[in-house]
Amino acid sequence: MRVDLWAGIQYQGAAMTLPRAPVILVFDSGLGGLTVFREVVKARPDARFVYAADDAAFPYGGLDEGALVARVTAVMDRLVALHAPDLVVVACNTASTLVLPALRARFALPFVGTVPAIKPAVERSVTRRVAVLATPGTVKRDYTQALIDEFAGDCKVTLVGSTALAGLAEAQLRGEAVEDAAIAAEIAPCFPDEGPPTDVVVLGCTHYPLLRTRMERLAPWPVAWIDPAPAIARRVTQLLGAPPPAHDGEEEAAALFTSGRAVTPELRRALGAFGLARLHIEAMPLGA
Ligand code: DGL
Repeated sequence: MRVDLWAGIQYQGAAMTLPRAPVILVFDSGLGGLTVFREVVKARPDARFVYAADDAAFPYGGLDEGALVARVTAVMDRLVALHAPDLVVVACNTASTLVLPALRARFALPFVGTVPAIKPAVERSVTRRVAVLATPGTVKRDYTQALIDEFAGDCKVTLVGSTALAGLAEAQLRGEAVEDAAIAAEIAPCFPDEGPPTDVVVLGCTHYPLLRTRMERLAPWPVAWIDPAPAIARRVTQLLGAPPPAHDGEEEAAALFTSGRAVTPELRRALGAFGLARLHIEAMPLGA
């Protein structure tokens, strides 16, 4: 067995064999995990997907560590009992950098995590300066520091914890107006004036690729933006195998929200564009 820090999962090499299409649960605090979901769907179009957004507790970046472990574990208990997934993708850096060991100890299921892509960013940097743009929770994790200690070498890593960007990404997806200035202010600390210029930015929160084209336009100079979603999808096919050559095509995917709030027509449209036509609202209030 080897431990692969970058993808955040443990595996023994051989893919699982199932007598039917797998059930894959993709989990996030909100809508950011959709950026991972779309890549995993491309990799296993035959699978049955459930996308679960714990929007009752959004943003996870604002929860303290004890509360976050308790919350994710409680919601996962319910989701696993309801949907019996064959594999779970924790499409959230804020949760993965903290909760994966507890989830793996609790469930006899493969969990694929999402953690900041520091190793590939460092490998790519020519200026030897990279920035990690993530939630305040992710930037202060021991796990993130361990990735830097192991992989950064001579490369300087600027950690940028944003309190607002995940919410701005959700607002944009819901069709609300998001000012350029609000995005520019959040990404500005990735580009310090002193020292070598940043040439790679790690998108260390799954919400941020939703704003990627705008961040590219608003950045003070061009950089490489690293989105881990394709690597996560590859890891899923490593575990579950490639799809069979002939399959029945895409199953209708379902989205589940824990807040119990009604889904607006704009959000329904946005989810439809990701292939999520069936919606379940199951209130799982925080603290219940
Ligand atoms: N999408 C989540 C992540 O990747 C975080 C958003 C939140 O703060 O809930 O970190």
